[in-house]
Amino acid sequence: MYLGLDIGTSGVKAMLVNDRFDVIGTAHASLTVSRPHPGWSEQNPLDWIAACERTIAELAETHSEAFGKLQSIGLSGHMHGATLLDSNDQPLRPCILWNDARSGPQCEALEERADFRGIGGNIVMAGFTAPKLQWVAENEPEIFEKTCKVLLPKDFVRLWLTGEHVSDMSDAAGTLWMDVAKRDWSDTLLEATGLDRSHMPSLVEGSDVSGHLRADLADRWGVAKVPVAGGGGDNAATACGMGITTPGTGFLSLGTSGVLFATTDRFAPNTADAVHAFCHAVPNTWHQMGVFLSASDSLTWLSEISGRSPADLASLLPETITEPSPAGFLPYLSGERTPHNDPNATGAFWGLRRDVALPDMVQSVMEGVAMAFADSAHALRSAGTEIDAVYAVGGGARSDQWLQIIAAMTGLTLLKPEAGDFGAAMGAAKLAAAAATGDVSASVFSSPKVDAEVWPDAHLAEKYAEKYDAYRRAYGQLKVLG
Ligand code: XUL
Repeated sequence: MYLGLDIGTSGVKAMLVNDRFDVIGTAHASLTVSRPHPGWSEQNPLDWIAACERTIAELAETHSEAFGKLQSIGLSGHMHGATLLDSNDQPLRPCILWNDARSGPQCEALEERADFRGIGGNIVMAGFTAPKLQWVAENEPEIFEKTCKVLLPKDFVRLWLTGEHVSDMSDAAGTLWMDVAKRDWSDTLLEATGLDRSHMPSLVEGSDVSGHLRADLADRWGVAKVPVAGGGGDNAATACGMGITTPGTGFLSLGTSGVLFATTDRFAPNTADAVHAFCHAVPNTWHQMGVFLSASDSLTWLSEISGRSPADLASLLPETITEPSPAGFLPYLSGERTPHNDPNATGAFWGLRRDVALPDMVQSVMEGVAMAFADSAHALRSAGTEIDAVYAVGGGARSDQWLQIIAAMTGLTLLKPEAGDFGAAMGAAKLAAAAATGDVSASVFSSPKVDAEVWPDAHLAEKYAEKYDAYRRAYGQLKVLG
């Protein structure tokens, strides 16, 4: 039995699986995000521990026999969060999360101090960890002074489980303090932020053992002092859950944010198009991502405005999409990462006429999100990645029409996985199995069966090619308007 723990932004998910990765049980505990100022996004690290305790206790109680046979634990979590600890490993302030925009002004200054793009493989963006520490140094110097360790969210949970300060390569790459090609901390990048290796956890591969469960917790849950695997950042862990660990494979996530993920056999950055180039959670493997911040969240926004649920709105569209909507939509409701790297970007509708009705607006929102995926596909292709087919996951992937639109806009064939749970918690459980058995082969990281394939429709793709140009122009013009 293996336990996967995913520290998600909206909640912790614990998943118990057997040796064949059949799900034995899951438990969930919600988390909230606090937004004390516009653009800020924070969580109390102790809430993650409380949520993990609740979910693990629930599984230990409801599946006591299976849980007693636990062999190892794997961790996954939302990336980039800055958890600052004092000399007693106590949090000094709330964690500053991945979607917190306050450190925009610090990004440029950091880039001038060191070659973050060359060594770290990424543009310094407000979402990442390094500029957050620079913000703390400038705005809360007394806290910066007291900071002894900087941990990522899932690694704070590991500290509680094992007493060890450890991170894995995939999550650590998202701090921007790593030499991503060498899979090690970069002294140069740390120094540019006033830090050194003593502030960092040690590094292991996601499929390696990072420590063992503390005796008191093992006693409490009635299990052995099992190993805890390195685990992975939530995207790399999701990839592990779906068997996306060999070069040429990828997935598209139509969740709150939009992610196009591709596995690579080498460090392959493309900072010109704001591609994220990180280590994967399995050895000798890297990955690229195009990320934009409002994917299914764009439809949620329209649903809040129109007072109808996202599923209701999606049901307004015909079964097969044959024509573009007359309206256009830019989905930058929370700023933008790939390819524009513009935290101040905003959303927009255009092409509105008296006859444009709600279904047209729904379709245009879906098209705007699809165009952002097309931007990411171009950005990954410019970085030398060749992918034709990707798994489609996330809440928005339940809409067939949305998948038709994305396939036609991106030229990608979208693979719908068989019913099941292949998310980050499953990936964490698979990494736990790899750490316990030493097996990182395809038998652990196998892919789900494909239930259906959504091919790009040539007729629709031709019409969308024109609309894609209009979309790129709209972003430029909106930027001029300010
Ligand atoms: C990736 C990113 C998000 C978070 C939260 O760069 O910021 O995917 O990991 O899920």
